[in-house]
Formats: sequence, C-alpha cells, structure tokens
Amino acid sequence: MEKEKLQTAVPLILKWYGIFKRELPWRGTHDPYRILVSEIMLQQTRVEAVKDYYLRFLERFPTAFELAAASEEEVLKAWEGLGYYTRARNLHRAAKIIAENGFPRDFEGVRSLPGVGDYTAGAICSIAFDLPCPAVDGNVLRILTRLFADGRNADDLRLRQEYSKRLKEVYPEEAGDFCQALMELGAIVCLPNGDPMCKICPWKELCEAHLLSKETCFPVKLPKRERKIVKLNVYVLIYGDEYAISKREKKGLLSGLYELPNFEGETPDFGKILRTKQAKHIFTHMEWHMTGYLVEAREKAPAFFWASADEIREKYALPSAFKAFKEWLT
Ligand code: ADE
Repeated sequence: MEKEKLQTAVPLILKWYGIFKRELPWRGTHDPYRILVSEIMLQQTRVEAVKDYYLRFLERFPTAFELAAASEEEVLKAWEGLGYYTRARNLHRAAKIIAENGFPRDFEGVRSLPGVGDYTAGAICSIAFDLPCPAVDGNVLRILTRLFADGRNADDLRLRQEYSKRLKEVYPEEAGDFCQALMELGAIVCLPNGDPMCKICPWKELCEAHLLSKETCFPVKLPKRERKIVKLNVYVLIYGDEYAISKREKKGLLSGLYELPNFEGETPDFGKILRTKQAKHIFTHMEWHMTGYLVEAREKAPAFFWASADEIREKYALPSAFKAFKEWLT
C-alpha cells in the first residue's frame, strides 16, 4: 500500500520537475567535484545564498587539483560569509584525497570523504552518477511525512533511515532528477510553515495530509532549544592606516578564522571612541548582541595583528558575524 503510493508518486514528481524545476548553476553538470562543492555549500545554507559563492568558488578552484593545491587561508577566504567554516576545511581535505586517488565511484567511497554524511553522499551519487542512493534532508522528510500524514517524531534519525529505505525501493533510472525533484518540491511548493502551495502540487490527490487539510501538522518536531544570548563589545581599532584583527582559537565557534577584537563584559580603554553601532548575529545555538566601537587607538597594541583594510579584504577571512562593522574598515 505504502510502496504503491510511492510508486505512483514517482512519475508524477518527475514530470512536475521536468517542467517546473529552477535553473540553478549546479544543474546540468555531472562533474562529481562540482556536485560535491554544491552539496557541501547547500548544507545548512539556502539556495539563494549559495549561487554566487558556488560560481566564484569554481572560478577560483575549477577542479579538485586547484583546490587541493590552495592554502587553507585561501580556501577560508573564498568561503568568507557562507558560515559553518568546518565545511570549507573538510572540502579542502576532500579535494586533497580526490586529487590523489580520483573521485570515488560508489556510495561507500563518497560517504568516506570528509564532511560527507549519508544525505550528501546520497545526493552526490544520485546526481553525479545516477545511482539509486536516496538523500533525505529536512525538505524531503517534510514532503514524505505529509504524503503519508506520518505523525512520528521527525527528529528521530531512524525516521530518515526508514524513508531512505522506502525511497530506494522505488528509485527510478533518472536518479539525479528524482533526488533533486524531491528536494525541489519541498523547497518551492511544500513549504514548511503557513502556506504550502497544495493547489499546484503534483501530489495533491495522493497526499494524506492534504486530504485531511492538515498539511502543517507534519513533520512533527520537538520544540527547539532557546539560543544562548551573548553580549559582546566589538572594536574596530585604527592606528594610522592599519586595523587590529586576531585569529580565533583552533576550536569551537568560528575556529581559526579572523576576528575583530571583542570582549564579553569588562572592556579595555583603547583610545578615543569615534562611533558606536549596535548589531546582532544569529548562530545556530547562540546570538551575539554586539555593541561596536570605532576607536582611534592610542597605541599599536602587540596583542593584535595589524593590517590595512585592503589586506583584510583580500587575504583574511572575517566571518559575517562582524559584517556590520566592516564598513568602518575603509
Ligand atoms: N539542497 C541540497 N542539495 C540541493 C540541490 N542539489 N538542489 C537544490 N537544493 C538543494
């Protein structure tokens, strides 16, 4: 019964995808390296935010060889602003492995690359090699739990595994299209909250949630934990035509990236304050509520590393959390 429903659903969604899919820069290639780059960027990041980065990154590193040969600093710079920087480091490590051994050709091999989990390995194998390897992310889980009005806990990894198994049984030959069709339906029709666009959905006659008018009841999730709020004073210190930056510790949040001097609680007196500005940055588990100070520094404090605005722009990856204060780096 459930298998039959899925079997009916497959051609419907493939036909829909053929007509309505978005033109995205990574669609239309089977180059596994390019697919890998797109899928790593698309982890935790919206399609709209990824597009430009993807094109720029591939211009700079067109194959795994160029990426493998680059320094970590260059790779992080190309990733600047995309967030979740561990992804960039893993992609860099993956490129070194690929440059050495070639791109792996099966699920196990792809899954063993750094930064590649079940979902990403499934997506790469489907899209690059047309292998029947399901990729169940949040979007896909949403459309499937709605299709079956499945009220089980969607935070339970076993549910993803179960749907993955069920999809594998009905995987069509056009594996790459099918994989992306599932993602696409979740991204542009079967929207998470408020208003799924059921009127234009290829599955409306099959979807149990729709037939019950209960689309938004699925997937069932536990309430999110509240984010910790951290108050920070952030400094743009100028001395002559140089600015103070420093490198964060090699562990934890934004590890190993550059930062503007910042302090929780009590802060030093660096010199004359020229401007102040409030800004907020939201991470997955934390919010930074920042007060920024533009300061003419009394001395070139040796605790920091001093660089011109051009150098900072060209070489040092300063994460988006500090974006609001970058306009002071002139
Ligand atoms: N999200 C993750 N992978 C994707 C892809 N290949 N296309 C669109 N959205 C995605």
